[in-house]
Formats: sequence, C-alpha cells, structure tokens
Amino acid sequence: MATHEDDDRFVTGRRVTGDDGASVRAVRARVARHLVGRARELDLLLAAVAAGRDVLLEGPPGTSKSTLLRAITAEWGIPLVFVEGNADLTPTRLVGHHDPARVLREDYSPDNFVPGPLVDAMRTGGFLYLEEFNRAPEDTLNTLLTAMAERRLAVPRVGVIEALPSFRVIASMNPYDNVGTTRLSTSVHDRLCRLAVDYQDAEAERGIVGRRTGLESPRLVADAVALTRSTREREDVRQGSSVRGAIDTALVAAQLAAMRGVPLPDEPSVAPPRWLSEEYTAVVLDAVLLALSGRIFLDETLETTPEAVLREIWEDHFLLQPAAADPG
Ligand SMILES: Nc1ncnc2c1ncn2[C@@H]1O[C@H](COP(=O)(O)OP(=O)(O)O)[C@@H](O)[C@H]1O
Ligand SMILES: [Mg+2]
Repeated sequence: MATHEDDDRFVTGRRVTGDDGASVRAVRARVARHLVGRARELDLLLAAVAAGRDVLLEGPPGTSKSTLLRAITAEWGIPLVFVEGNADLTPTRLVGHHDPARVLREDYSPDNFVPGPLVDAMRTGGFLYLEEFNRAPEDTLNTLLTAMAERRLAVPRVGVIEALPSFRVIASMNPYDNVGTTRLSTSVHDRLCRLAVDYQDAEAERGIVGRRTGLESPRLVADAVALTRSTREREDVRQGSSVRGAIDTALVAAQLAAMRGVPLPDEPSVAPPRWLSEEYTAVVLDAVLLALSGRIFLDETLETTPEAVLREIWEDHFLLQPAAADPG
C-alpha cells in the first residue's frame, strides 16, 4: 500500500515537471530571474517539489520563503494558497465548512460547502503554504498529515476530495520562535523534507533593497542594509530585523530627505563613507527608528529600549566606521 502510494506520487511529480530534466531546468532559469541570489535554495526546493515531496522551509521571517514559492508557482502556472498557522486554525478552518444559512434552507449538500485552503489547494493542484505551521493546533496538523499521506481527503457530507497531481504542502517555521508553538511530533517531521533558509549576505541584501526600492543612491541602500544587519549581531537583541526592515529604512529615508531638502549622497556603496552631511545621517537615524524599532526583539532581562539600541548601532555605523577605515 505504502509503496503504491509512493509510486503514485513519483509519477505525479514527473507529470508536473515533464519527462526529463529539461523542463525543470527551464523553470529554474525563469524562476531565478525573480530572485537575487538563492540559487542553491531554489535548486533544492525545486528538486523536492518536482520529486513530488512536501517541504518544510525553516528560517526567520524575511528570508525569501514566500518569494521563492510565488516565483515557482507563477512559472508553473499553479495556485499558491496561503494560510497562517495559529491557534485559531482549526481543522474546520483548514478544510472548509458548510454555509450555515444555506444549510438551514437546503440541508447539508456538497453544493453549500465552502472550501478551506486545504481543499482549495487539493482541488486546484496548488501549493498549500502553511506559514508558522508549528503554531497550528495538533488536530489541524493531523488533518494535514492525512491529506499529505493519502493525497485525498474524506470530507463529511461532501465526499472524497482527490488532490490534483501538482498539490504540495509547503510548511514554514521560524527556528527562533518558541512562544505559543506546538512541539511537533516526529511523525510530522518524518513526512517533510527540510530546507533551512537563513539571511543572505550583505551584497545580496543590497541587491534586494536596490531592486525593491528602485533608489539611485547606492550609499543609502548600503547604509540601510548595514544598519539592519547590525541588529542581528547584537547580544542584547534576541531577534533582529530582516531585509524588510532595510527596504523600509531606505524608502522612508528617501522620502524624509526629499521633504527636508537633504541631498542623498552619490558615493559608491561599499567603500567607507568619506564625508556624509549631518543632515543625511540625521535622516537615516529617523528612518531607522521608524522602520526598525518595532521589528527588533530585545532580550527581556535587559533594561534597554529598541530606540537606545538602534541609536547605538547608528552611532557605531556613522561615527566609528570612517575613523577605523581611514588610517591617515
Ligand atoms: N532573494 C530575494 N530576491 C528578491 N527579493 C527578495 C529576496 N529575499 C527577500 N526578498 C524581498 O524581501 C521581502 C521579504 O521576502 P519574503 O520572501 O516575503 O520573506 P519570507 O516569506 O521568508 O518572510 C520581500 O519584499 C521580497 O521581495
Ligand atoms: Mg512570507
């Protein structure tokens, strides 16, 4: 039985991707255009889904998980169904429910069933992307496991829902997240391939911020990225900001600079700044406070504030760096 089921899924995977590696390679090349870097993660994720597997993406927020999945499903022409894992995600929410008003008038029928994300993804052959799935209740995860193992689901008063061949479950979790999460049973882990995604390097992050903001000041992009990355390196910060914080810092700073009539530096991005106006660094500080103070999570035992931490990071970046880099 188990072998038969696995064979099915193997055939399934091949059907989605074509008969040889060529179409997977073509998809990979097209998907890569949506992304800055991430070649290895893309290869591994594509290989897993093309092989008919379900996948756990493990990494902090803002590390391209949704971007990868959006790009793959868009290129494959299949739906991507998002669902957020939290305590309210009951099995009924995941599977679907009968419209109560219509049930009163018509009694239960498959016709008045409102599909939830799981049934939706199974019927359309989409990827069900369950974010923070370790926050979902255990009985919800069990329902999901059944659908994953059998590729079909019996729904009372509806019938058996058969998944289209391209249906996949992609789960994500943040390894730093341990509040309100379920300790996942080994039977869950045993059914998923796992791909760890971590933060990208500074060069890639500058590429992402440049692309997402369209800003023409490489200096501002580099400063926003460097300041954001510093929030991940501090002892007193439990979780720093992702590249999303850098994108917002850069966009807010550009607006503030325009409003205040402060010219953005046109220096190259990577070399240490030679000279930056106080007006410019003040704009960056305001942008950092606005964009990052709600995105960093401090060690609770310390008596400091996000604002104080960010001000220190800003001082280190603008005041110490040029001195250190300029021996004379
Ligand atoms: N490798 C990448 N290439 C292009 N854009 C990226 C990349 N990684 C992240 N981004 C951008 O950063 C933001 C957060 O990425 P996202 O994929 O939503 O993260 P996650 O789903 O892991 O939380 C989005 O605006 C996305 O466009
Ligand atoms: Mg996401």
